[in-house]
Amino acid sequence: MDTENVMNIFIFGGTGDLAQRKLLPALYRHFKAERLGLQVKIYGIGSSSFDVSSYQQEIKKKLSTNLESIEYDEKAIQKFIKIISYIKIDFNINTDFDSLKKITSNKDRNIFYLAVSPIYYKVIAENLNKQTLIGLHSSIIVEKPIGNNLQSSIDINESLALYFKENQIFRIDHYLGKEAVQNLLALRFGNIIFEKIWSNVAVDHVQITVAETLGLEKRGPYYDQTGAIKDMLQNHLLQILCLVAMEPPTNINSESIRDEKLKVLRSLRPLKANETNDHLVIGQYKDGAINAKPITSYLDENGVNEESKTETFVALKLWIDNWRWSGVPFFLRTGKRMAEKRSEIVIQFKSVPHNIFDLNNKQKDNQLIIRLQPEESIKLKIMIKKPSASGFHLQELPLDLLFDDYYEDDHLDAYERLLMDIIENKPSLFMRRDEVEEAWRFTDQLINSIADSEISLSKYNAGSWGPSSSDLLIANQNAQWNNEED
Ligand code: BG6
Repeated sequence: MDTENVMNIFIFGGTGDLAQRKLLPALYRHFKAERLGLQVKIYGIGSSSFDVSSYQQEIKKKLSTNLESIEYDEKAIQKFIKIISYIKIDFNINTDFDSLKKITSNKDRNIFYLAVSPIYYKVIAENLNKQTLIGLHSSIIVEKPIGNNLQSSIDINESLALYFKENQIFRIDHYLGKEAVQNLLALRFGNIIFEKIWSNVAVDHVQITVAETLGLEKRGPYYDQTGAIKDMLQNHLLQILCLVAMEPPTNINSESIRDEKLKVLRSLRPLKANETNDHLVIGQYKDGAINAKPITSYLDENGVNEESKTETFVALKLWIDNWRWSGVPFFLRTGKRMAEKRSEIVIQFKSVPHNIFDLNNKQKDNQLIIRLQPEESIKLKIMIKKPSASGFHLQELPLDLLFDDYYEDDHLDAYERLLMDIIENKPSLFMRRDEVEEAWRFTDQLINSIADSEISLSKYNAGSWGPSSSDLLIANQNAQWNNEED
């Protein structure tokens, strides 16, 4: 970063959960590693009354709980909080934005991070503009969900586009900041061995699982209005799907990658209401246990309507209508309160065309398992001959690459990575407007099909892998979800 330039990072929602749990710890790590320039200032902005020093003390307190103890360095924290200030602003009152005008001009590199509910995006952008705070070097950062359906996402995008150019708008999907998600690009396009078999020629089906053990974490009212389809599928799962299914981009530039992702989204086959039973399972957790700890049902969570029909699990069989993927089903599933925290992609290859071994040799088809979290690994299951004095016996074994074996300390958290890209003005890990809108187009259609169909909500025990109907969904492909323990 050019240390000559003044850079102001304004965090709207500076007292909120995202700022305290993710953004400020990520900025602290960059500060400590001297990755922030000397001229960086951070401003927490909110409607609560704090003076600067009590805000700094509050940040210090929160850092002590949100950082690993090994990262907590009293001296570095003391220095870090000195670059932080607090400004009280009512987002709806334009004259409140005067206080920003007093400390910055539109010549500075101003980063406006909107860690607030999307209902404030429009008014904040308007007020920044009225106070002429937006210059050529300004960026605005917004978090998913960008809207709640296609129309509201268009409205949000329109209101930002009035004051910011597309390359000044950073739409965050934090999954794109995960090291492992980016590694998909390296795996696919940095190696020749996969490309020729990465299609309907050799792939039987693809599974994408994002399973969480977490429940609602005090977000009951938001979640009950949202559900798994809008909270996870519309963004994180579709983004992973794009990276798995896209064509090779011409280069690593943001526009090339986003162009290819957009083509995947445009090729998704809309689900018709009369097909939902064969293609979709929606579920909601009931009582259960995770790691021997009892878990109460979704309907008993705070902020959830006692008759709620909101889905906490979704499994979907979807089709990508293009040359490469014709005839290959993609199975996506995500859910809360499942058996394990696990995000992974399974590429299930087809059987060999002709089996030369005798019937006693049960042959398994190759599988490539890309684990994104909690640990990052790539496992290719292959058949080998089992050593023996006589006979010929096949056995399946994994070629296993566990990233921690090679990179112990190098892991940046997703927000650390994304914040650095914002500071350095690199947009490839952020969603372009057309991608977001296309993902909503597909999601709206899916939600309308559910509404028009007879499909009902299946209950599943907390701590399980979801409703049994989701096993049937994939069993129709003569396959099963990879729920295997390592
Ligand atoms: C968020 C969702 O986008 O992602 C949460 O709103 C979910 O409901 C979270 O828990 C999962 O993120 P991660 O990084 O823990 O897999």
